[in-house]
Amino acid sequence: MNFPDYRPRRMRRTEALRRMVRETRLSPEDFVYPLFVVPGSGVEKPISSLPGQFNFSVDKAVEAAQKAADLGIPAVLLFGIPERKDAVGSEAWKDSGVVQKAIRAIKKARPGLTVMADACFCEYTDHGHCGVLHDGQLDNDASLENLARAVLSYAKAGVDVVAPSGMLDGFVGACRESLDEERFDQVAIMAYSAKYASAYYGPFREAVASAPQEGDRRGHQMDYGNVAEAVREAGMDAAEGADIVMVKPALAYLDVVRAVSDEVNLPIAAYAVSGEYAMIEAAAEKGWIDRERIVLETLTGMRRAGADIIITYHAPYAAELLAKGKR
Ligand code: PBG
Ligand code: ZN
Repeated sequence: MNFPDYRPRRMRRTEALRRMVRETRLSPEDFVYPLFVVPGSGVEKPISSLPGQFNFSVDKAVEAAQKAADLGIPAVLLFGIPERKDAVGSEAWKDSGVVQKAIRAIKKARPGLTVMADACFCEYTDHGHCGVLHDGQLDNDASLENLARAVLSYAKAGVDVVAPSGMLDGFVGACRESLDEERFDQVAIMAYSAKYASAYYGPFREAVASAPQEGDRRGHQMDYGNVAEAVREAGMDAAEGADIVMVKPALAYLDVVRAVSDEVNLPIAAYAVSGEYAMIEAAAEKGWIDRERIVLETLTGMRRAGADIIITYHAPYAAELLAKGKR
């Protein structure tokens, strides 16, 4: 392949040729759309740190989920903001909790839409940590017991996929065991396998009021200098029964997405988190970047790095662009 016999520009000459040899394609089918569910009805409250995203009551979450489904997006991922927070986050496993209600309502309205539910306690505890505290420290095994309760209550509500996000040791095994004991062997687990302690979660913590009151999450989320550890974590989760492994955040961690997808023989999800969305929206708002082109380029980069599934707040927007033939 030497110039002038081979001229790479020949295959870049027209849009039709470029499309024909394109290696990575983007489709609404790749996306998962996160939704934030709050108590009440008729609520559609804009989230100031995530312009274009809302806190929805169950009825409005159903509408948003239906809109996403109409755009060809196959799945939504639910986060809940409870009525009351307490020390252990007990509303997370309440049968009448907002997420449980939203699961039932969305599955009823759109049985074919995949409903995923995030399972963690930081949105549910008054101290904002991802489980039970003992002497100011996150008690791993005590938190696992509550996690098992939470995923079971989601399963009873009809969830398709549970997504434990606390980065607790043994969290996938605890979920699998609890689900299987109650014959929910068909409920899948999407593990937040490589979730880094990241400043990119800032806008999300504002959306769900889950910032820890004291301390941080560095004792359980990963150090951002590490990649071999991510592969190890994803391997452990696969061995414990994960059906999908996730890398999070996405954009600053595309090498991690690549490493995990090379090493782990399971579908790989990348979570384009709140800070990534907020950066694009803020710069686009200022007119400093071209929103349409940046969104499609960024999401395609995640697919190219090896992500099979992309969890993104841009899902409906990107699906609309794709429907218009923008890529
Ligand atoms: C909770 C959780 C977080 C996110 C998803 N699940 C935040 C955190 O760990 O503080 C982040 C999502 C985002 O920033 O978009 N465990
Ligand atoms: Zn958490």
